Amino acid sequence: MKNRKLRMLIFFGSVISLLYLTGCKAKPPSRIEKRVVQESKDLVIGGKDWQNPVPDNASSVKLGSKHFQHHCQVCHGLDGHTTGVPFARNISPPVPDLGTPDIQKYSDGQLKWIIENGIRLTGMPKWKGFLTDEEMWQVVRYIRHLPARGSLGIPEVYVREFEEHAQTHKEHTQKEPMKNKVTE
Ligand code: HEC
Repeated sequence: MKNRKLRMLIFFGSVISLLYLTGCKAKPPSRIEKRVVQESKDLVIGGKDWQNPVPDNASSVKLGSKHFQHHCQVCHGLDGHTTGVPFARNISPPVPDLGTPDIQKYSDGQLKWIIENGIRLTGMPKWKGFLTDEEMWQVVRYIRHLPARGSLGIPEVYVREFEEHAQTHKEHTQKEPMKNKVTE
C-alpha cells in the first residue's frame, strides 16, 4: 500500500518535472505542483537519521566552504544564496537559496543524501565519486553556517558577464537624457 502511494507520487513528480524540463519557457510551478513534487521528494530523500560524524566547528565549516566554492558555486553562488548566478531563477525547478527554511528544515543526514544522490530530473547533480563522505559532511556543516547573502561577491565565472551587462545598461541610460536634450 505504502509502496503504491510512493510509486504514484514518484510518477506524478517525474511527469511534472519532465513537463517542466521539456517546456520552452520556465514558468513558476503552481502550488499544487510544488506540493506534489515536495511530497514525492520527502518520500524519496533518505538519510533522515544519519548522524554527521564531522565536528561542528569553524575548521569543518571552512573545509566545507572550500568544497562548496569548488563544486557548487557555479549554480548555488559562493554564499549558497545563488548570488550572481544569472540562470538560477530561469531553470525549472529553480536553484534554491540554501539558507531558506525549506532547505534548512532537512536533517543533516538528508542534506548529505541529497548531495550524494542528487535530485533526479532536476539540475541538481549527484556527487558520489566526486566528493568523499567526509567532504560531503563538511559541506553540510557549511550549509548550516552560510555567510550573509552577497557577502562573498559573485562567482568569478560570471564577473565578466555582469560587468558587460552593467556597461550596456549604463550606455542605454546615458542615451536617454541626450535624446531629451535634442527634443528640447
Ligand atoms: C548544475 C547546477 C548545480 C550544481 C553544480 C549543484 N546544484 Fe544543488 N541544486 C541545483 C538545482 C537546480 C536544485 C533544485 C532541485 C529541486 O528543486 O529539487 C538544487 C538543489 C539543491 C539542494 C536542495 C534540494 C531540495 O530538496 O530542494 C541542496 C541541499 C543542494 N542543491 C546542494 C548542493 C551542493 C552541496 C552542491 C555541490 C556539492 C550542489 N548543490 C551543486 C543545481 C545545482
